[in-house]
Amino acid sequence: MSFTTKDVVLKEDRPKTLLLQKHSDYLASYGLNKDDYEYCMTEYLRMSGIYWSLTAMELMGQSSRMPKEDIIEFITQCQDSESGGISASIGHDPHILYTLSAVQVLAMYDRLDAVDIEGIVRYIVSLQQEDGSFYGDKWGEIDTRFSFCAVMCLSLLQRLDAIDINKTVEFVLSCMNFDGGFGSKPGSESHAGLIYCCVGTLSICKRMDALHADELAWWLCERQLPSGGLNGRPEKLPDLCYSWWVMSSLSMLNRIHWVDKKSLEEFILACQDNETGGFSDRPGDITDPFHTLFGLAGLSLLGNTSIKPVNPTYCMPQETIDRLKLKPQILQ
Ligand code: FPP
Ligand code: ZN
Repeated sequence: MSFTTKDVVLKEDRPKTLLLQKHSDYLASYGLNKDDYEYCMTEYLRMSGIYWSLTAMELMGQSSRMPKEDIIEFITQCQDSESGGISASIGHDPHILYTLSAVQVLAMYDRLDAVDIEGIVRYIVSLQQEDGSFYGDKWGEIDTRFSFCAVMCLSLLQRLDAIDINKTVEFVLSCMNFDGGFGSKPGSESHAGLIYCCVGTLSICKRMDALHADELAWWLCERQLPSGGLNGRPEKLPDLCYSWWVMSSLSMLNRIHWVDKKSLEEFILACQDNETGGFSDRPGDITDPFHTLFGLAGLSLLGNTSIKPVNPTYCMPQETIDRLKLKPQILQ
């Protein structure tokens, strides 16, 4: 059987330095024209879009360029008074993903008082199942990413005691595979995005001891391709956001040095657009706020000092996590 590696080739004329000013201008102007095609088409995930943009701006020390009061007002309008959950946009149905994004934004702004916290706690508690897993919303999809959203959200609200932590951990561990990785539910294949969610859950619940750290870190560092970029599963193309899902997991495992940092940094820098600003999934593609956050956060994990330190568990500025006195576990 022959093997060909799916990868990209970095061009000689690619960006090789960090274009901070361009990224700040890109995010500051994103969504200023509410009629933009792309802006309209992404309404279903607006709340997460605000989290990606604000976090990226915070990491660049540029968050004052975001419309703070409008954002806080928007979040209060997205909270459903009945369930307590928060939606992606006004008039949409609440979901745990957008509830987390809203709480992350309010935590960064130190304005958690702007929403009904008890309502959010009630909503998250209502989504936990008998086996410890979580629904994403009232429609009943189960996924380990929702377990992570639940514990991250409640820990930011200092209310982790409201759910059954032992059962939460037990369910996540039931999704561990022979390779040390995790998938979306028991028996699902290992996937770097879900590994981040499961390791993050164990980090917040302080149960990192339950991991098979060496096997898992080996699987993660095997995601690096000759271009320096990382993929999310074997046989997939590299994608910039996996610099976050993989590197944050390795960082919680204290094994970030298992990848070639220099070639990964070159790949991340090559994903910048030197005309529009922002980062894309692969060199030459169209940029978006999601990949812009993970490009900057990935460079921060790699030690780039022109970006503020990011917390690998929360994907938020370390200074916010310190202010909230949160101590997610990192393997020693
Ligand atoms: C890839 O998804 C990514 C994941 C599965 C992780 C998602 C993590 C969360 C929603 C938790 C909150 C995140 C943060 C940063 C606080 P995909 O569906 O794009 O996978 P694919 O690349 O295989 O298509
Ligand atoms: Zn991506």
